[in-house]
Amino acid sequence: MAACQRGCAFAIPSHSCPSWERWQSMEAAGRLLCRVSLLLLCLQPGLGRTRVVQAAPPGFMESSCLASIFWVKLDKLFLQGKFFSLEIVDPSGGTVLVDEMLAARCGYVLSEDVWGNPIFRASVLGCHVANEADRLFSLTINIKVSSSPDMRQAATYSFPMYCTYSPWAPREIVCEENYMEVSVKSDVPAISDYDSATWMSALPEVQKVQYQVWQLIFLSPSGRKKIMVSNAAKLGYSFNNTLARVFLRAPYSSNESELTVANGVSMNTVSSTSMYKQRWLLLLIDTTVSCPVDGTSFTDTAITWTLPSIIPTLVLQGDTFISKNISVGVDGKNIAHPEQNFTLEHNKTHIQITIPIGAAGGRLKSTVANGVHGIIYSINLFLEHIWADVDWHLTKYTVIKSISTPFIPRIPTVINNTIPEKRTFDVTFGSFLPDVSLVTITIGNVPLSPREAEHHGYKVYEITFPNGTKGFNLEVPFDDPTVLKEYVNRNETKYTLRVNYTLNVGPEMKPYNHPAAVECVLADIELPEAVGYCDKENLYLAVPISNLHQYWSLYIGNKLLNQHTVLSNRYLLTTNSTHLVVQVPLFAVGIIYEEVSFQRIKTRFDLALRKANTLETIEIFSVSCNFNSSAFIVCYPNGTVTVSAPMKTIPSIDMGKTKLKDSTCKPKEFNEEQAFFQFHVSTCGTSLKFEGDHIIYENEISYEKEILPAWGPPRITRDPDYRLTVLCYYPTKERLMHTAIVSNRPTNGHPPFGYGRMMVRSHVTGHRKTRQILNIISRVSKDESFLELYEPNLTIVKPSLEPIFFEVELKDEEPSVDLHLNNCWMTGSSEFNSTSQWIITMDGCENRNNESVTEFYPVSVSRRVKYPAHFKRLAVRMLVPLLGQVHLHCTVTVCSPPKGPIGNIWTCGGQCDPTRKRIDQNSEPYSGLRGYVLAGPVWIVAPEPTVD
Ligand SMILES: *[C@@H]1O[C@H](CO)[C@@H](O)[C@H](O)[C@H]1NC(C)=O
Ligand SMILES: *[C@@H]1O[C@H](CO)[C@@H](O)[C@H](O)[C@H]1NC(C)=O
Ligand SMILES: *[C@@H]1O[C@H](CO)[C@@H](O)[C@H](O)[C@H]1NC(C)=O
Ligand SMILES: *[C@@H]1O[C@H](CO)[C@@H](O)[C@H](O)[C@H]1NC(C)=O
Ligand SMILES: *[C@@H]1O[C@H](CO)[C@@H](O)[C@H](O)[C@H]1NC(C)=O
Repeated sequence: MAACQRGCAFAIPSHSCPSWERWQSMEAAGRLLCRVSLLLLCLQPGLGRTRVVQAAPPGFMESSCLASIFWVKLDKLFLQGKFFSLEIVDPSGGTVLVDEMLAARCGYVLSEDVWGNPIFRASVLGCHVANEADRLFSLTINIKVSSSPDMRQAATYSFPMYCTYSPWAPREIVCEENYMEVSVKSDVPAISDYDSATWMSALPEVQKVQYQVWQLIFLSPSGRKKIMVSNAAKLGYSFNNTLARVFLRAPYSSNESELTVANGVSMNTVSSTSMYKQRWLLLLIDTTVSCPVDGTSFTDTAITWTLPSIIPTLVLQGDTFISKNISVGVDGKNIAHPEQNFTLEHNKTHIQITIPIGAAGGRLKSTVANGVHGIIYSINLFLEHIWADVDWHLTKYTVIKSISTPFIPRIPTVINNTIPEKRTFDVTFGSFLPDVSLVTITIGNVPLSPREAEHHGYKVYEITFPNGTKGFNLEVPFDDPTVLKEYVNRNETKYTLRVNYTLNVGPEMKPYNHPAAVECVLADIELPEAVGYCDKENLYLAVPISNLHQYWSLYIGNKLLNQHTVLSNRYLLTTNSTHLVVQVPLFAVGIIYEEVSFQRIKTRFDLALRKANTLETIEIFSVSCNFNSSAFIVCYPNGTVTVSAPMKTIPSIDMGKTKLKDSTCKPKEFNEEQAFFQFHVSTCGTSLKFEGDHIIYENEISYEKEILPAWGPPRITRDPDYRLTVLCYYPTKERLMHTAIVSNRPTNGHPPFGYGRMMVRSHVTGHRKTRQILNIISRVSKDESFLELYEPNLTIVKPSLEPIFFEVELKDEEPSVDLHLNNCWMTGSSEFNSTSQWIITMDGCENRNNESVTEFYPVSVSRRVKYPAHFKRLAVRMLVPLLGQVHLHCTVTVCSPPKGPIGNIWTCGGQCDPTRKRIDQNSEPYSGLRGYVLAGPVWIVAPEPTVD
């Protein structure tokens, strides 16, 4: 080391060092060793004396002669992890210090082949080569190998080499990696006639040179420069003569060189004339040399190397140029038929060699750049071009070039060979060159070496593709815990395997990670099939329970079937080892009445099988049965109510004479045992009220003979008192609107059936309830005449700011009762307790404020009005512009004259009397009969612009 620091500057041109590093980094700590070994390549004069020459291991060194070049290859396997240096032995036994400049000057190249084996080349005209008559050449090199940086311990292997080279062409040019060399026959005066004027202009100077002394004249753009050959070495050149030849060796890019372009290819050119003067003879030789410094281009699939056919600085009389032979070689060996592996094309201007990436002789190498996997292809080529021209007769032009492609990304892919029926993932990860190895494979976050993966029961193995690349195969069973399972579609499982491959890539063993996910969807879930049946009062559905709770939930409409639903709906849920059985009573919530007639009720009960994760309905289990029942009430989603009222009185009554509150509503069918009514909640005097989260419609079936209301004078009648209160409960949240009834809509739970109740109130049932139901309706009039009113269910539209006319009517035959409006308000919603209210009346008084004006209209007897006291009419005019729908809500009281038989109960105020306190707040018992009524909606729209 210390010796090196003293001034040994050589070794490999810095641009080739990385490849040495790569070669060395095969071994741990290799990078450092590389630099050290390069420095130790410098030859130390002192070391040579104690050298012990040993026999080299067989195969360690291979040498050959390529034309005029010694070609040596060392085996990298033997040198792996070791330090080595190379010495050149001078025929006289001495050694010379070699540095970078010297290597180029002496005709040496130290490099490596594409496989990383160190390569040494030397020109037969190089320094320290023994030359016998320009025919037989010998050179001895010593290779010193040490396992430590201290080369004093190194083993020295000595290799004498011999090459015969003959005949020489009159001019031979070699373009090496680090030098250009031209040698010419010295007995040929070789100044081109074509250009003689240029050369002759130099003659006055030439004639001044000393006898026996060679001189060199460089011609460069900066002018002519004349030097003694003894000074050439100082400028990096090597000039000498042999028995019959003169040669000049020049490094690339010397001061005297010039960058030229020949047919589009950059060339480095040193134009020179060598001069030798004897007494009677002036010898002038053109020793110009020109070599390509570029000419490669790349595509994804091929390398193209282009050279000029004619190099103008070398062929001064181009019209006499004849190309004689072009041959190509790889790694110092000629290729007999290059067209088999490459394309070699040439014409008057260019020679072009196209090498497919991956062609034999070159090396494909894997690597990783910026996390991307890719390849680099390298090849060492040489080209020999022999041409003739009038000046030189023959020129042999040899170029030695190593070419590497830039990084070519090759994204590996995961090939899915899974056969779902085998229930095993089978994936191949590829394709890779042989220099890639699998380090770990992470399955389910656990990194495993291939061997550990085998222990876990996975199959990991390498496969080779027909084209020589390889892949890594992995087999993981679907049922492995690391495989993600997801229930998808109706009956399928999606299996997902997530893996992360970690590879060692290329000779540099660069790490590379590649995550992958493979999916497979398999129909392997069996859907349960339910069985339905009925008894006299219930419907049943039996659902198999295997897998049930793993994937699904059961729903009744929008409600999950659970203990709460079961209890609140009066179902019964039982489970045995195989099935879950839901028992649903005929009139329970959730029953769908498909047909309700006098003779029978056809019912259905649906249970939806929903996915537990997405709540998507997969299947609807249904049971459907017919029942005969003499007493029932069915409240349809569209507001239709069907009631079968049983005959329960003694003596019996004529069921044909029963009626609803509106006495025009008679049974649709009847016999001695029952009467069958069908009506809509908006008709037949049905009233509505709110209770909790339910809206309750109420009507009453009674026997016609009875006198209503109860305050009429008592009469003796043969008929028993028959009263049946009919109640329909609808959940408020899903309440249907009077105006938005869509019948015959498929009822898959939306909107729901209400549930009904019948309460018999007759002497027979033994108790009489005091509750009363008011038959009140509220409607919107077309104008202030109150002659025409909008039919219920009709869309009512009013321009903004115009008055709206409301009428509230007590439907009753009793002349002596009065209808009073207590509080009326308007809102956008039909909800009883909706906010954003506009007060219309308060305690029976018209309300006036900044927002609205209310005005009562007198009512007199007319075609529509029999008892004016049963009517209230009012006009409401909004003073603020308002758009959208509005409803009128009113609380009402029905009062009778104070002298009535049960006058106390029925007497009340209710007429507008601003001085009076609010009535019926805490008065006991009731002050009159109270009720609630709703009108609307009325759609308020922007007024049409008037056209004048
Ligand atoms: C020229 O070649 C001769 C014979 O090989 C050699 O002795 C001499 O040193 C060489 N001169 C130079 C300057 O290399
Ligand atoms: C000669 O070959 C080169 C490269 O293949 C091509 O670009 C050029 O056009 C050719 N010239 C002639 C005259 O055919
Ligand atoms: C050229 O190709 C042939 C056949 O493809 C192959 O056998 C031979 O080894 C190749 N030669 C070189 C030098 O690449
Ligand atoms: C080699 O074969 C594999 C598998 O068929 C393919 O994926 C890959 O692309 C091939 N490689 C080349 C360089 O043709
Ligand atoms: C893998 O192959 C299986 C079987 O052919 C196929 O069902 C699945 O969709 C494939 N998965 C992917 C991710 O390509």
